[in-house]
Amino acid sequence: MKVMTTDAIKIGDFKLNGKAILAPMSGVTDFPFRKLAHQWGAPLVVSEMVASESLVNENEDMSRRAIGEHLAPFVIQLAGRKAYWMSEATKRVQDLGADIIDINMGCPAKQVTKGLSGSALMRDLDHALTLIEAVVSASSVPVTLKMRLGWDDKSINAPELAKRAENAGVQAFTVHGRTRQQFYKGQADWSKVRAVKEAITKPLFVNGDICTLADAKAAMTASKADGVMIGRGAYGAPWLPAQISRQLNGETPLAPTISDYKDCVLEHYEHMLLHYGKKYGVKSARKHLVWYIDHFEKDESEAKQWRQKLCSTENIKDVTNHLNSFFDQKEY
Ligand SMILES: Cc1cc2nc3c(=O)[nH]c(=O)nc-3n(C[C@H](O)[C@H](O)[C@H](O)COP(=O)(O)O)c2cc1C
Repeated sequence: MKVMTTDAIKIGDFKLNGKAILAPMSGVTDFPFRKLAHQWGAPLVVSEMVASESLVNENEDMSRRAIGEHLAPFVIQLAGRKAYWMSEATKRVQDLGADIIDINMGCPAKQVTKGLSGSALMRDLDHALTLIEAVVSASSVPVTLKMRLGWDDKSINAPELAKRAENAGVQAFTVHGRTRQQFYKGQADWSKVRAVKEAITKPLFVNGDICTLADAKAAMTASKADGVMIGRGAYGAPWLPAQISRQLNGETPLAPTISDYKDCVLEHYEHMLLHYGKKYGVKSARKHLVWYIDHFEKDESEAKQWRQKLCSTENIKDVTNHLNSFFDQKEY
């Protein structure tokens, strides 16, 4: 039974059909993964971050490959540190069909922060604002912003950044409940995200360590956020944002059979080979296959054997045979 919610989240004119969205994760939520999450029913999926300057300097084919195809709403995330490139990249992604443009001010990786992009922008809000203004003024589609709580414990400035960004025209926010200096250590503090909700009027997604319906409810209660963004919890489970979304909506949960899961995994593998070509596809699919095994096989010694089988061959037929056998024995 579908329960219509009256409090649907709106990003500009886009009305989302649920409250649990898929996080952007470089090297994980590429087009094949996002397509599956979208097919399962995730209300929104976001491209991996694209560096603004490289995007503008690449040819259109390369950009299309990096970004993938349209999955409504088509959200493309930009990273960068110079207003000029952010503005040019904004124009480019609109030409590529973006429905929403997300700005990355949350990435903690050293190679990103040392170039003063990602979460490093939270150390200089005036500069961060110049980038936000550049994107908003070059954009005819809604702009959203993803950030952390701040750079470190002594500089929790997400509420200030969000408020200033909202005044500059940003339409929705995601806050990961950790500081940059925490990287991924410890626990995300959802309650600290609440001050952001109190500073803004536009929709807010809380993010960090949300892997179950109970986590989603607890994170929304602690932060008062309108929705949740799910990252690593979706490793080996592209259906998770859709499932949690349905449950938060009060809809009947998805009830896939083992054979539905098998079809999903085989489709994922096939799509990885198509998207990246066989040579690179075989290798880059392995992490996903390992996550699927970990998801469905809780006996560690069994899981180890399956991981070895799947990762020790480059023969595509062997891999698909192993996947078929793995899921077939789970059916009985
Ligand atoms: C492998 C990996 C890649 C990531 N890439 C991005 C990215 O491209 N853009 C971004 O804004 N955040 C990125 N993140 C951060 C996630 O979107 C998310 O904020 C973080 O993982 C916390 O959420 P989680 O605990 O649900 O995973 C990445 C995280 C991981 C683990």
